[in-house]
Amino acid sequence: MAILEVRNLTKQFGGLTALNDVSFSVEPGEIHGLIGPNGAGKSTMFKNIAGFYAPTSGEIRFDGRDITGLKPSRISHEGIVRTFQETTLFQELSVFDNVLVGTHNRSRTDIFSAILGLDRQKQREAEDSAIEVMEFMGLADRRDQLAAELPLGSQRALAIAIALVSKPRLMLMDEPFAGMNPEETGHMMDLTRRVRESGVTIVLVEHDMKAVMGLCDRLTVLNFGTLLARGSPEEVRNNPDVISAYLGGSHA
Ligand SMILES: Nc1ncnc2c1ncn2[C@@H]1O[C@H](COP(=O)(O)OP(=O)(O)O)[C@@H](O)[C@H]1O
Ligand SMILES: [Mg+2]
Repeated sequence: MAILEVRNLTKQFGGLTALNDVSFSVEPGEIHGLIGPNGAGKSTMFKNIAGFYAPTSGEIRFDGRDITGLKPSRISHEGIVRTFQETTLFQELSVFDNVLVGTHNRSRTDIFSAILGLDRQKQREAEDSAIEVMEFMGLADRRDQLAAELPLGSQRALAIAIALVSKPRLMLMDEPFAGMNPEETGHMMDLTRRVRESGVTIVLVEHDMKAVMGLCDRLTVLNFGTLLARGSPEEVRNNPDVISAYLGGSHA
C-alpha cells in the first residue's frame, strides 16, 4: 500500500489554477522526486499535503487515512514533516537549541507532568534525542555554533535534523540542494540517503538533476499545474514531453 496517495488534487488561487487534477502515489521507503519547471506547482503541492493550504478539490491519503484539509499541527502529528525552501532556522540560537525546538513537535508538556515532576525527564529525553540526531546528521562538532554562523551545507543539514528529531515517517524536502557547490551536493546526497535508510520515506522537490537522478527511485513531473509524466528516472529522462517542457519552459 502507498504511504502517500494524492488523488485528483486541484488547487485554485482566485482565477489561477496552480494544480489541476493531479494524482500520484509514494511507496513506503522510496525517495520520490517531484520535479517540473518553475511555477509548475511543486511547492503548492507540498503546502497542500502539509496542511498549509486546503485543496480546492481532491483527496490526500496518508497510510490509508484521509488527511485532506487537516491543520498543519494535526498533519505533523500524523508524521509528515516539511523542510522549507526558505530557511526557517532560528539564526540566533545554537545548533543544539535549534534541534531541541524540533523535539517540541512531538513531546507535549501538560499540567499533570509538570505537577508530577515529569518535565525534567521529558527535557532529558528531548536532549538525548537532539544529541542523537546531531550525530546522525554530522553536526555534533557544531553543537554550540549559532545557526547564522554555519556554512550552507550545515544549515541545510540542520534543517533536516530539526525535521528528523520529531520522528517523522514522511519528509517533504523542498529544494535542499539549491545554491550548493558539487562538494556540498555530494554530501547532501549522502545525508538524504541516510535519512531514507533510517526508515523515513522522502518526497524531494529539486531542480538539481544530478541529485534527482542520483537519488530518486521514481519521479512525478508537473508542468503548469498538471501531471506531465511519471516513472523511473530513466523513463522520465527519455520522455519527449518532459524534454520539451524543460527546453521550452522558463527553466534552463
Ligand atoms: N499563495 C498563492 N497565491 C496565489 N498564487 C500562488 C500562491 N502560491 C503559488 N501561487 C502560484 O501557483 C503557481 C505554482 O507555484 P509554486 O507551487 O510555487 O511553483 P513551483 O514550486 O513549482 O515553482 C505559480 O503560478 C504561483 O504564482
Ligand atoms: Mg517552489
